Amino acid sequence: MSAGTGSAEIELVNVTRKFGDAAAVRDLSFTVGNGEIVALLGRTGAGKSTAMNLIMGTIPPSSGTVRVAGFDPHAEFDKLRGKLAVSFQTDRLLPWRTTSENIELGLQILGVDKVASRRRAAEWLDRVKMAGAGDKHPHELSGGMRQRVSLARALAVDPQILLLDESFSQLDHVTSKSLRRDVSELVRTLGKTCLLITHRIDDAIEMADRILVLDIPARVMLEVRPTAADRADPARVRELHQEIAAAMGGDEASTH
Ligand SMILES: Nc1ncnc2c1ncn2[C@@H]1O[C@H](COP(=O)(O)OP(=O)(O)O)[C@@H](O)[C@H]1O
Ligand SMILES: [Mg+2]
Repeated sequence: MSAGTGSAEIELVNVTRKFGDAAAVRDLSFTVGNGEIVALLGRTGAGKSTAMNLIMGTIPPSSGTVRVAGFDPHAEFDKLRGKLAVSFQTDRLLPWRTTSENIELGLQILGVDKVASRRRAAEWLDRVKMAGAGDKHPHELSGGMRQRVSLARALAVDPQILLLDESFSQLDHVTSKSLRRDVSELVRTLGKTCLLITHRIDDAIEMADRILVLDIPARVMLEVRPTAADRADPARVRELHQEIAAAMGGDEASTH
């Protein structure tokens, strides 16, 4: 266990997941400590989404153990309700609902009443810099704005753990950069535990306390710990970028 303040919130021990004869994840072990931001970084096909599904409990491992907040996420799926929130590459907002209604939905499922959930939605829109957009429908917003709403929806249920699966990957670099900054600041301020899954080296360096670079099939081959000082120094960022790109097998790994 590392930078986190407490025990491991997410723990994988020697996890293998096969589809037929092929392993999408092989012998994968890592932990994410309480309050830590960890990036799982790997090329397309490395098994990142499979790792994410194992952590969400939508699929069981073929062998090994997965623990999330102390539970087996597949066998004890219900126990993680409200503790774990997920945001994906596409915003997955319901187009016929306003942004506020999209955020309220998750709260109402957890039993928060209508007045309180409307108020919480407004607070969260404010925190993701979308104050006043509560009455807009998703089609009236840009991709970056929709992704902000999607993140507000994930965070509004006050989860212990936030999973981000390629949440910044479809945005252009400028939009993605400002969103990454805002989200990592929010997550750090709130002390959430966060696992970011990405194929983009920049996303990982910008956000994570610890970057786990994955081999194919998913297995940690390199661990990098960027500090705030590293992030503030463009030369150091370039150095880290090159080190990671080399491990991932060439510079084209930075964009694909
Ligand atoms: N449900 C599935 N059935 C069969 N093969 C799968 C399934 N999900 C993923 N795979 C395979 O596992 C490998 C890893 O996929 P995935 O976890 O989606 O990687 P990533 O998210 O890193 O791109 C790929 O070769 C993919 O084809
Ligand atoms: Mg994926």
